Amino acid sequence: MTVRSNRPAFTHPLVHRRLPDGWWTSPDVVPDAMAVNTASLHLADLAEADDSALSRLAQLSVLAAAPHAPDWIPRVADAHEELREALDRSGVSKAAYIGGQAAGWIAAHPQYGDVWELHPLLVAVPFQGRGVGGALVRAVEDHVRSQGGGVIVVGTSDSVGATNLFKTDLFSDPLGALASMTVQPGHAIGFWQHAGYAVVGVTPDAEGPGVPTIHLAKKP
Ligand SMILES: CC(C)(COP(=O)(O)OP(=O)(O)OC[C@H]1O[C@@H](n2cnc3c(N)ncnc32)[C@H](O)[C@@H]1OP(=O)(O)O)[C@@H](O)C(=O)NCCC(=O)NCCS
Repeated sequence: MTVRSNRPAFTHPLVHRRLPDGWWTSPDVVPDAMAVNTASLHLADLAEADDSALSRLAQLSVLAAAPHAPDWIPRVADAHEELREALDRSGVSKAAYIGGQAAGWIAAHPQYGDVWELHPLLVAVPFQGRGVGGALVRAVEDHVRSQGGGVIVVGTSDSVGATNLFKTDLFSDPLGALASMTVQPGHAIGFWQHAGYAVVGVTPDAEGPGVPTIHLAKKP
């Protein structure tokens, strides 16, 4: 099945300053950004990724994170560090490939008790909205289930004002604020809820004053 995107080309100004000229439009990086054969989606263990795939995963991570969490992975070196950490931890990590090109990745590790933490999940911008993220999450859920994990938790921050929790004092009534939380379309919270994850908490100021982490959880 070939799916055509109606999304405009991604032109985040911060990111274009951080990547080599031509990276975004290079045909060897994104074979056809506007027409993706999703039937060719293939998942593999991240540990099997070669240097070229890891390099592309690092670059796509910077681009994918920038609109939603600009301070999370600002440079390609930061993304390589994320990848290294995921590979060093015990747990599970997967890369997604479309037409042989790395298109996204995911990791999860046991945290405490029966809890596994899923972090991170990043899909290349041109391949978003085509089932890559969902497939990666299902692969992790299958793994956690096979290991007897009882719950998967995921935290997602709001550092760009995508929710009404941004820049508010959440300490006085965090649960009240969560109960009346509004989320702009396109934020990852919507993706997680669509995948069956329930909002279970919030950590005020987790990533700086007024920047909360919203916690979601699912039984795998
Ligand atoms: C969030 C992200 C991982 C989603 O990956 P994706 O490949 O675009 O998602 P998919 O195409 O697999 O979507 C799977 C389903 O979720 C739905 N969905 C995707 N994003 C959604 C959103 N923001 N709100 C509601 N539903 C959403 C899709 O419509 C699809 O529904 P369907 O299965 O009924 O057709 C991706 O957009 C991304 O990398 N974002 C930037 C980084 C990020 O925010 N990561 C998460 C950090 S916690």
